[in-house]
Amino acid sequence: MAASTESPFKSNILKGKVALITGGASGIGFEISTQFGKHGASVALMGRRKQVLQSAVSVLQSLSIPAVAFEGDVRKQDDAARVLESTFKHFGKIDILVNAAAGNFLAAAEDLSPNGFRTVLDIDSVGTFTMCHEALKYLKKGGPGRSSSSGGAIINISATLHYTASWYQIHVSAAKAAVDATTRNLALEWGADYDIRVNGIAPGPISGTPGMSKLAPEEISSKARDEMPLYKLGEKWDIAMAALYLVSDAGKFINGDTMIVDGGLWLSRPRH
Ligand code: HXC
Repeated sequence: MAASTESPFKSNILKGKVALITGGASGIGFEISTQFGKHGASVALMGRRKQVLQSAVSVLQSLSIPAVAFEGDVRKQDDAARVLESTFKHFGKIDILVNAAAGNFLAAAEDLSPNGFRTVLDIDSVGTFTMCHEALKYLKKGGPGRSSSSGGAIINISATLHYTASWYQIHVSAAKAAVDATTRNLALEWGADYDIRVNGIAPGPISGTPGMSKLAPEEISSKARDEMPLYKLGEKWDIAMAALYLVSDAGKFINGDTMIVDGGLWLSRPRH
């Protein structure tokens, strides 16, 4: 369903752009990779699992999308630097960075070790900052392969669970709060100095993702009709369309925002 829904955007809106997507070989990240490619971009995928990367690249190439994958862990600064350099060497520039890599599991706070808490912050928050930090020299205006007046764009995938509080998700809530702060602060500093736009997307429950199967399985699906204003789960496609909008010229005046794409779920309550 998601992949076959027709895009409302012209197929050339990312023509000539190069995007690096962490976590880009699976889940929401892979749909973003696919849609960016279908709209003209060349895509580089970063992830930890070789097999998953290889099969994702095969699918993209079968769609005639220029695609390459590099193994790496966003927790390692050397991996971040190496993958960015490899992407640059392969495609000659980098226009877009999407931080979609994330770690997650359900754990009650009392059962969660500090190392478990730290692990998710390391992946989601520090990993996002590390990738942004290492990408700066490529994305800034006047960077290699760029004009002297135009910088690139960053999208950080967030969540909505830290807007309130979420059962057994203290680690992810803390991590995504830090991601949102990072989005705003980089938007301020790098927008002003380097013409880089930094935005986020906060997905609600999205069908067919590791997040849904790991965190919320059937309970959310069966209750969705009662609790969600749009009466359904989102699709990966919905997140990819938001990403397309934000990184394309349509979003050229948007900076420092984290767009909520959840059908209104986070603010809704059961009737009565
Ligand atoms: C409690 C756990 C745990 C669990 C790991 N830990 N899994 N604690 N319950 N289920 C603890 C460990 O005990 C350990 O602490 C610490 O975390 C590190 O564990 P490792 O296994 O060594 O970590 P690692 O192999 O690096 O794995 C990282 C991971 C893993 C986060 C644990 O699940 C992962 O990488 N997942 C990535 C894929 C993923 O889940 N993507 C979906 C994201 S969805 P101790 O103290 O024992 O050493 C998403 C949606 C968010 O982000 C929004 C939803 C609404």
